[in-house]
Amino acid sequence: PIMEKFNSSITYDRHLWEADVQGSKAYSRGLEKAGLLTKAEMDQILHGLDKLRRAQGTFKLNPNDEDIHTANERRLKELIGETAGKLHTGRSRNDQVVTDLRLWMRQNCSMLSALLCELIRTMVDRAEAGAEGVIYIRSYTHPLKAPQPRPSTLHAVALTRDSERLLEVRKRINVLPLGSGAIAGNPLGVDRELLRAELDFGAITLNSMDATSERDFVAEFLFWASLCMTHLSRMAEDLILYGTKEFSFVQLSDAYSTGSSLMPQKKNPDSLELIRSKAGRVFGRCAGLLMTLKGLPSTYNKDLQEDKEAVFEVSDTMSAVLQVATGVISTLQIHRENMGRALSPDMLATDLAYYLVRKGMPFRQAHEASGKAVFMAETKGVALNQLSLQELQTISPLFSGDVSHVWDYGHSVEQYEALGGTARSSVDWQIGQLRALLRAQQTESPPHASPK
Ligand SMILES: *[C@@H]1O[C@H](CO)[C@@H](O)[C@H](O)[C@H]1NC(C)=O
Ligand SMILES: *[C@@H]1O[C@H](CO)[C@@H](O)[C@H](O)[C@H]1NC(C)=O
Repeated sequence: PIMEKFNSSITYDRHLWEADVQGSKAYSRGLEKAGLLTKAEMDQILHGLDKLRRAQGTFKLNPNDEDIHTANERRLKELIGETAGKLHTGRSRNDQVVTDLRLWMRQNCSMLSALLCELIRTMVDRAEAGAEGVIYIRSYTHPLKAPQPRPSTLHAVALTRDSERLLEVRKRINVLPLGSGAIAGNPLGVDRELLRAELDFGAITLNSMDATSERDFVAEFLFWASLCMTHLSRMAEDLILYGTKEFSFVQLSDAYSTGSSLMPQKKNPDSLELIRSKAGRVFGRCAGLLMTLKGLPSTYNKDLQEDKEAVFEVSDTMSAVLQVATGVISTLQIHRENMGRALSPDMLATDLAYYLVRKGMPFRQAHEASGKAVFMAETKGVALNQLSLQELQTISPLFSGDVSHVWDYGHSVEQYEALGGTARSSVDWQIGQLRALLRAQQTESPPHASPK
């Protein structure tokens, strides 16, 4: 019994039940065209499979069902009798399993793609709404404060690449392996082009051995998820930090945070901490599958059964993470006043150097002059913008009355007009680009989100 349990995959591959029915329906059409089933037999099988699909809720698994494929076939036999036994003609569990998995992943990737686009759209909407009231947030390089305040569509941009990557991965998932048999192909004249068209795959696998034994499309999916989680965990970390009492730049809504069971004043960012932590689980699945695949001899080995739990767990995690992240972003409160209070004149030291550059000084020299001004302010114990014009002129005669413009944060942000920078015009451009990308990805996003 322990071996049977160890060997069985039904506890998780039952997710594939519908894809399995879909694959079998297409295959019975292939068998009919090849003359291996009469039209009446095919109709009987199709009818049985449809019945099986409708009865999913009441379908009881047997202790003897080792996987979903045998369970479906057993049930079909109960429904239509011995004709059910013809369905597996020339088909192997090897090409059946991988066809089912590709069908399932294709659909699931479409759903994940829609969720990811929804998250990006929410971020872009908030970036656009934020621009109305003009938010300047102090930015940090390393975790040291950096000199430019900048509103940002930073994380949304990284996620659009993940979205693009998911569609790429989906293209390679969307290739039909059915008709590859156990290893050598199909000897009974089954028309794979018909199977492809029936199941709406984009292409047919080129080599039967590769088709039944490769799981690179699974590895790619897991890597996609790992990279997307890397981006989301970094975003989560930024928001956790900016949500601390010390910063108070942002505040999570109650729906996405939890009161501390001990300290009444505390509200913990559970949603964000969970998003950050789930990255570990996803990376682990990716690394785990790569270890399973490494050094495996060619063609099907039972080791490949390990692919499914990874896919299901990661799909489930990604689906939850993307929805929670969307909820967090759409309900996040932004505290402009606190962001405003965190701005300080020392952040404008680079602007002071650019001021001198605009007056004709070489940048290296201007950088040094600005450094001297910072040092002078520190020595005198005043803020950088409190140095008098006379004091600045002891550093460089190029300083004149218009230096006062440098101390305006809005002016500082607006000077970065080059595309990609912080100026309002550039942020509007970024938002426009992101919206165009979302539109393009939606058109590319596949039509067959649900099985026939
Ligand atoms: C292991 O599972 C396969 C199906 O994947 C089945 O054909 C085989 O009989 C099982 N072996 C044992 C020892 O349970
Ligand atoms: C995708 O897979 C996950 C995990 O099984 C599941 O929660 C989700 O509902 C699936 N979506 C679709 C459309 O099958």
